[in-house]
Amino acid sequence: MRAIRLRTEYLTEPLGLGITAPRLYWNADGGLRQTAYQVVARRGGETVWDTGKVASSRMTHVRYEGVPLGSRDRVDWSVVLWDEAGAAGPPAESWFELGLLDPADWTAEWITGDYTPEPDVRYPVDHFRRDFRVREPVLAARLYITAAGVYEAVLNGEPVSEARLGPGATDYRHRLHYQTFDVTSLLAADNVLEVRLADGWYRGSLGAFGATHVFGRETRLLAQLELTYPDGSTETVGSDERFRWSDDGPVRFADLQDGEVYDARLAPSYSGHARITTETMIPTAADNVPVTEHERFPARLLTTPSGARVLDFGQNLAGFVAFTVSGRAGQRLTLRLGEILDGAGEFTQRNFQLRKPVHEFGRDVEILLLTGQESEIKGELQPTPKQEVVFTASGGTDHYVTRFAVFGFRYALVETDLDIDPADFEAIAVYSAMEQTGTCVTSHEGVNRFLENTRWSMKGNFLDVPTDCPTRERLGWTGDAQVFFDTAAYLMDVGAFFRKWLRDVRDGQLADGKLSAVIPYNGTSMLYDTTGGSVGWADAVVLIPYRYWKRYGDESILRDCYDAMRRYAMFMITNAGPLDPEAAADNPHARYLYEKGVHLGDWLEAAEFRDPSPGRTPMPEEATAYLHYTMTHLAEIATVLGETADADLFAEYAQGAKAAYTHQFLRDGTLDTDRQAKLVRPLALGLADGDVKRRLEDRLVQAVKNRDFHVNTGFLSTPFVLPTLTAAGHPEIAYRMLDNEDAPSWLAEVKAGATTVWEDWEGKESRNHYSPGAVCQWLFDTVAGLRVTGENHFTIAPVPGGSLTSAQARYTSVYGTVASSWTRTGTDLHLTVTLPPNTTADVRLPNGTEHVVGPGTHEYTA
Ligand code: BGC
Repeated sequence: MRAIRLRTEYLTEPLGLGITAPRLYWNADGGLRQTAYQVVARRGGETVWDTGKVASSRMTHVRYEGVPLGSRDRVDWSVVLWDEAGAAGPPAESWFELGLLDPADWTAEWITGDYTPEPDVRYPVDHFRRDFRVREPVLAARLYITAAGVYEAVLNGEPVSEARLGPGATDYRHRLHYQTFDVTSLLAADNVLEVRLADGWYRGSLGAFGATHVFGRETRLLAQLELTYPDGSTETVGSDERFRWSDDGPVRFADLQDGEVYDARLAPSYSGHARITTETMIPTAADNVPVTEHERFPARLLTTPSGARVLDFGQNLAGFVAFTVSGRAGQRLTLRLGEILDGAGEFTQRNFQLRKPVHEFGRDVEILLLTGQESEIKGELQPTPKQEVVFTASGGTDHYVTRFAVFGFRYALVETDLDIDPADFEAIAVYSAMEQTGTCVTSHEGVNRFLENTRWSMKGNFLDVPTDCPTRERLGWTGDAQVFFDTAAYLMDVGAFFRKWLRDVRDGQLADGKLSAVIPYNGTSMLYDTTGGSVGWADAVVLIPYRYWKRYGDESILRDCYDAMRRYAMFMITNAGPLDPEAAADNPHARYLYEKGVHLGDWLEAAEFRDPSPGRTPMPEEATAYLHYTMTHLAEIATVLGETADADLFAEYAQGAKAAYTHQFLRDGTLDTDRQAKLVRPLALGLADGDVKRRLEDRLVQAVKNRDFHVNTGFLSTPFVLPTLTAAGHPEIAYRMLDNEDAPSWLAEVKAGATTVWEDWEGKESRNHYSPGAVCQWLFDTVAGLRVTGENHFTIAPVPGGSLTSAQARYTSVYGTVASSWTRTGTDLHLTVTLPPNTTADVRLPNGTEHVVGPGTHEYTA
């Protein structure tokens, strides 16, 4: 038996890790059971940790407990596994290297361009350059780098890594990440280090209204190149005033949302020098996967009915655009990037663009924008985001690729007098480099496409932060991430990604314990702070760590987040109670009602049930339901962490809210509505029991039938509809909803040609919103029936049905790759289950038979 898929803190061979006692992970290959392991860790030639032979089946979260490690330490570790026969296998090897852990490690100075930024002025990209000689050979070279802005570093003409858009998005008021790159192989005797610096999240547009200068006016760079020679001596080339500077290069304007203005005739002169500046923030390691370029899509040229030329890349995505053109110097090419063609077949950005003032704006204008009082704003308005590339040709052959903007697009409107060949254009998907862990292929093409559309919407929105959409808002809406977490964790390995974002969540918690509705901070805080306590959104601080814990078996995420969860719990408790005590006088549990606060409700239910003013009307039903649900999770978490007094308090609120809800909203289960969210919620959140529950289930089935198997839930309830129907013994109804190709439904958009998930059932809003794709969890955990239910343990309980004749799912869990595959002929079901070594599963067949099995492939016919 041998260890495979060795990882450190969810990362493969991380460089620049900020965790000094990291946890180690592996999966087992060959053999049946891991009876023991031995980890040996070495730093240089020295053994810094040797666990000896540990009798254990553990493959995850094995914490390094050796000699204390320090900055820059590189640790090579190996693991040997013993199998069920007591035989040791060959060692498997991996490594990690720590970053700069002590603020004093930073000897480089913060530098900026030599200009004083003025209000209302946007500046071109800064170019910094340092030429230096090294004594050869260099044993190792590391570049530690970060910026207030977005940087791109190039050493001797080569990008220092595949990572893009560093340092990534955090709340820069609290946290700034740095990256570490191994640049040993790029060094020569004479070297040129060049760094380009753009506005990024720091100074460029953020959020729906494209507020700028959210974190500051002056962009800054910190770069420290450390060289180690074979004799052990070291040398550092750090950013300082010896870095030359100019801003006369080709990128005349760069903004993540608006795009780039690029003049290929220009090259930086480096005629000036960088200026030393101050920055008090100490950069920390992200301990996250980097953002990198992924799939590339060629273009097809369309001519629209009005004669416009549009490039169609065939896939809606978030990322860069690249092209090659030749022409006369000064010839222009403008690309505007968008997600759709309108009803007339013309390019449009209307489904995501808003308008904002041309000039920088403050709080007053922000209020007008947020409250739809645009007409009150003085001065000119402009569309936001612009999503465009304005390119000027050099006269030779030019290659352009976006570096400092990200577009949500499938189409590009082209305006140019250059001769263009669509074969010279490409769309490049850009997202956090998460390992793809889950696939599910069924006999239904539409279902398969929907799952892949969901994966694409995940790719389109997992760029360092889980955002709602890559076009209009690009914000880390907490509720969206909350509803999608389980689906996300099937599709890709989100261990490192969500650990990072949960840190952002903690950074973004407000003084009273609520969370901003979008994380990280984006400048226009008013709306987001006001709606920050919204149930379903704020609950992300509890529900995501809880699900993360269950999925990855990682209890430490609960410890990391406990303080924040507790503060949020206290916020809810403080706000619980009736809005109008007289009106609630007949409710004996009124103190557990949750009627206060601003709540977003189910958000984007089908049009007929949509709340006209979410966030403005009270939402006591939703809020009390989530008070119960979240307190139930909190009570379990507090118990696991040994916080018994808290656990009792949370359990009291969980039970109290349930009683209050039953009294106020359930009317003995005689709720008469076709609004599915109202029926699904009490069922899914554990608010109904016995006859009340049965009546609600029956009414839900009736509601679905009354609406011809359409879905009419919003963000919060959409993931619960099919599981609730299945749990109520109606998988066939669930399948009919899934199969439905008529709007509102998941497959209507597939039928309409969607390549990503739409925000709303009508397709009027953004076309790249993963939230409604959260139904895909059901494909994995119910249709294929794959669930992680304990350490090294799964439950496989497929529920075949509907028009599906087969389903095959594979999931690379933290314990290894598990697969469930079934085919159906008539009433016969054939199931194949494959378990990785060192795991077990409870297999439950639809006919009720159960089997407890171990590694290998198991076949069943039922
Ligand atoms: C966003 C959603 C978000 C919602 C909450 C929308 O504008 O796009 O994804 O959760 O607002 O109100």
